[in-house]
Amino acid sequence: MTGNTAGIEQVELGRGGPLVGVQGLGCMGMSEFYGDTDEAAARQTLDAALEAGVTLFDTADVYGRGANEEFLAPFVAAHRDRITLATKFAIERTDDPLYRGVRNDRAYIRGAVEDSLRRLGTDVIDLYYMHRRDPDVPLAESVGAMAELVQEGKVRHLGLSEVTGAELREAHAVHPIAALQSEWSLFSRDVERSAVGAATELGVAFVPYSPLGRGFLTGAFADASAELTADDFRQYQPRFTGDNAKTNGALLTPVREIAQARGATPAQIALAWVQQRAAVHGLTVVPIPGTRKPSRLAENTEATRITLTPAELSLLEPIAAGVAGDRYPDMSHTSAAREG
Ligand SMILES: NC(=O)c1ccc[n+]([C@@H]2O[C@H](COP(=O)([O-])OP(=O)(O)OC[C@H]3O[C@@H](n4cnc5c(N)ncnc54)[C@H](OP(=O)(O)O)[C@@H]3O)[C@@H](O)[C@H]2O)c1
Repeated sequence: MTGNTAGIEQVELGRGGPLVGVQGLGCMGMSEFYGDTDEAAARQTLDAALEAGVTLFDTADVYGRGANEEFLAPFVAAHRDRITLATKFAIERTDDPLYRGVRNDRAYIRGAVEDSLRRLGTDVIDLYYMHRRDPDVPLAESVGAMAELVQEGKVRHLGLSEVTGAELREAHAVHPIAALQSEWSLFSRDVERSAVGAATELGVAFVPYSPLGRGFLTGAFADASAELTADDFRQYQPRFTGDNAKTNGALLTPVREIAQARGATPAQIALAWVQQRAAVHGLTVVPIPGTRKPSRLAENTEATRITLTPAELSLLEPIAAGVAGDRYPDMSHTSAAREG
């Protein structure tokens, strides 16, 4: 189902799910991971997004260890009925920037939702995701606990992140899943192995995260270790440093050339590609590029109006296969790791 408002097109987020702008906003970088944030500009970006028809706002309890949810609270309070608010549970952290523990058990979920509701200053979360899967906890327990939250009115819709196609099917049989959020971009296409097919078949919307390859696809940086600050998470991502970054930078030539020929930007080509790749599968897709700058928000939402030609798509097709280096320093919590 689709519709039009003054801004970008609106689509249904999963069969029977809420209507949302066809592009959402990733808010993670406003609190952590990508260097210093200008808070005023970040708040202007939230307002600009809403103005442009973006309604899906994405956070997680783990971003800034609660700080990102707290940062969003005033925006949520001002626009509660106009936005679809998504947050996530499951990741535990320590002072080691690379440590990630995963909790999927019922007791943990029941505590996590209360913490998120309090930090967000709301009494209901529109879309509650399990951020990572702990294969030692049966999905029936985790999704069952999430379903209880729906019954209790604390959560409206359920989502999963970084699960395989088989896991998505198993979870959906316990309770309808509205959205699957996993990394999907010109550089990261492992979800096309099983998750994309399962989502299409089940009527689950796909929410591609890091659709700009964490900024690398835009040309904003060429080597994370040489150009970004010491606390920037991208320093730890194997594909963004050293020889891998050099190899991967060379893959961007067709993105730049297509952008130049169209009077568009590489970011817009990368976003248009995700949108169209999903259309090939017949899948509803709501990418959530992250930005803290109103000008980039406008640039990114404008990409929803670009249709790439078959010739352009075939120039972009080989890119992912050439990417050197994993997307995480530790791939063990990704869906790809459990697909073999
Ligand atoms: N489920 C998960 O496991 C998971 C994992 C990672 C992320 N996420 C979610 O997905 C969202 C998006 O992913 P992401 O932020 O990691 O990566 P992304 O959207 O691929 O890229 C974000 C980076 O690109 C820059 N950028 C944005 N628009 C740009 C443009 N038009 N031109 C040049 N640079 C641009 C941003 O910088 P500025 O901010 O300075 O503009 C930021 O550094 C996150 O905010 C988060 O909500 C989920």
